[in-house]
Amino acid sequence: MDQAWQDFEVSEDLRAEFEDRLEQYWEELFGLLLKLYGDRYDFFYHLEQILLTAAKAWAERPENLRAIDRRRIHDPDWFQSQNVVGGALYVDLFSENLGKLADSIEYFKELGLTYLHLMPLFAVRPGDNDGGYAISDYRNVDPRLGTIEDLQVLSDQLHEAGITLVLDFVFNHTSEDHHWAKAAQSGDAEFQDFYFIHPDRTIPDQYQRTLREIFPTVRRGSFTWHDGMQAWVWTTFNNFQWDLNYGNPAVFRAMLEEMFFIAGTGVDILRLDAVAFIWKQMGTSCENLPEAHLLIQAFNRLARIATPGVLFKSEAIVHPDDVIKYVSPEECQISYNPTLMALLWESLATREVRLLTRSLSHRHRLPDHTAWVNYLRCHDDIGWTFDDADAAAIGINAFDHRQFLNRFYTGQHPGSFARGIPFQENVQTGDMRIAGTLASLAGLEHAIETGDLVEQELSVNRMLLLQGIALSIGGIPLLYLGEEWGMLNDYDFVTDPAKAGDTRWVHRPKMRWEFLQDLEETLDADDRSRAGSIRRRIFRSLQKMISARKSLHALGGTDMELFPTDSSHVLGFSRTYDSSRLLVVANFSEREQSIAGNRLRTAGLGRFFEDVLSGERISTSHDVVLQPYEFFWLSRV
Ligand code: GLC
Ligand code: GLC
Repeated sequence: MDQAWQDFEVSEDLRAEFEDRLEQYWEELFGLLLKLYGDRYDFFYHLEQILLTAAKAWAERPENLRAIDRRRIHDPDWFQSQNVVGGALYVDLFSENLGKLADSIEYFKELGLTYLHLMPLFAVRPGDNDGGYAISDYRNVDPRLGTIEDLQVLSDQLHEAGITLVLDFVFNHTSEDHHWAKAAQSGDAEFQDFYFIHPDRTIPDQYQRTLREIFPTVRRGSFTWHDGMQAWVWTTFNNFQWDLNYGNPAVFRAMLEEMFFIAGTGVDILRLDAVAFIWKQMGTSCENLPEAHLLIQAFNRLARIATPGVLFKSEAIVHPDDVIKYVSPEECQISYNPTLMALLWESLATREVRLLTRSLSHRHRLPDHTAWVNYLRCHDDIGWTFDDADAAAIGINAFDHRQFLNRFYTGQHPGSFARGIPFQENVQTGDMRIAGTLASLAGLEHAIETGDLVEQELSVNRMLLLQGIALSIGGIPLLYLGEEWGMLNDYDFVTDPAKAGDTRWVHRPKMRWEFLQDLEETLDADDRSRAGSIRRRIFRSLQKMISARKSLHALGGTDMELFPTDSSHVLGFSRTYDSSRLLVVANFSEREQSIAGNRLRTAGLGRFFEDVLSGERISTSHDVVLQPYEFFWLSRV
């Protein structure tokens, strides 16, 4: 290490900062790596290489990022602030390229975003690239989107505007044309060890017995035959996405280098993609294994040491018991909240909040110094990942219920307002997931088709209701851009051969900038601007909610308590931070509901409240009435 520091030519101070942190985390890091790789004859060689990699990352870290690191070390819970509001987008679909994206910073500010997740933007294989998740080079931006320099410039511009940058760390697999995979294809044994490559079906068949199929319409089973190598390759997702073998410490170190490189472009939060799948063990499901956690914790320790401002966000779209295991300050500080997401949709379909309440009652609380990322839609499908026992506890048969939800959200259930389409339908098990935009799933597409104005109104209220929960329940709200305009499904993806096979593209539409003009237009007498007025209403309402969120001290932190509303259609919870308190009540049905004033008085510790969003005053001396899909954010007055 001494030699390395000399070679890096860094100041004594910089070196001391690193060494302090190394000392702080050394024992834990060593323990983690020992558990993962301690039985290797060359363990100490790899350990040394890993430490050198970390030292180099700190030595080369741009000074402006080091300044952010230092700030965050002293403010580790910064992401729990009510000021943090996220958005996610595809660079090309939103604005063509990275350079042009900077022009939208004003737009992000107007909407109130302070966190921006750019969907994968690194170099990818030609043709289908799974929306950027088949990466062929982590050191280069997809040339259609720009260059690494463009990314760095954008990250500086975002930071100046008070917006943090989130990028994916796609570390479970590389594309088949990544140079590691190419070396493996050309017979290089060192790189064949980076993946799971088997000459015949013996080993694959043994693994396969206990594996779930993730993309059953792409291929049956998790292995793909490679003609060139005359071998089977492990591919959990698409055939061209080769799973990495983390049993090999060289893979860990190689990916660590890529992680530090990505962090060095100015990333604040790394979204750890497909965390559930990163460790394989014969005879298991190869999902959520204990070693997967050790691996992420080891990456976390190394980030704490070399890039301490960077946070991890977990993408585990799995059973709620497993989702939560990735969330801790030592592993991923923040995590998608897929259970809440799925159950909000469940509540819209059933008009009941029983399953949602049941689940929230024992699943919402997280460890200190962590937070949920609450979202309604993202670039992926919706899977009904709620717990069967939670459902059984309130008399719901989980299997039948999932069938119902699938029929409902594909519009096949009589009276359904939703216009989703199936994703990865498994004809054998009857299983499927749902694709579709927020607006189409909430009924806007159907309402516009049928010209039903009442339905249009209801669908807008459904969207705002869900947003009202995501923005207040505790954690980071994350919009999937397009939601703010009520963007509908885009069925044209089928005309693009690189997209036609993946129905998730239905909810990845191109941004329509003409909507911004609609926003400025005033209502005129003829109906020309009716669609415009719907979009305007969605945008303005969301914007208003975001700004209200930021003004509410009670929405900081992550404390959330449910309270009884005596109605199976009305969700009620309180948020408390320091001495501030906010009550949220939300009606999930299209009928008026009322709740007893006393319930609000005892939960909110006050007699009079104001709905922060409408300014309406509410007295608890009588029943409080909620209109269809109405919700209140109640502050004591
Ligand atoms: C993640 C991404 C998803 C992708 C998969 C494989 O789950 O969110 O879009 O298909 O990983 O990379
Ligand atoms: C599976 C995976 C999840 C991924 C999704 C993509 O549900 O568990 O990680 O996002 O597939 O469709």
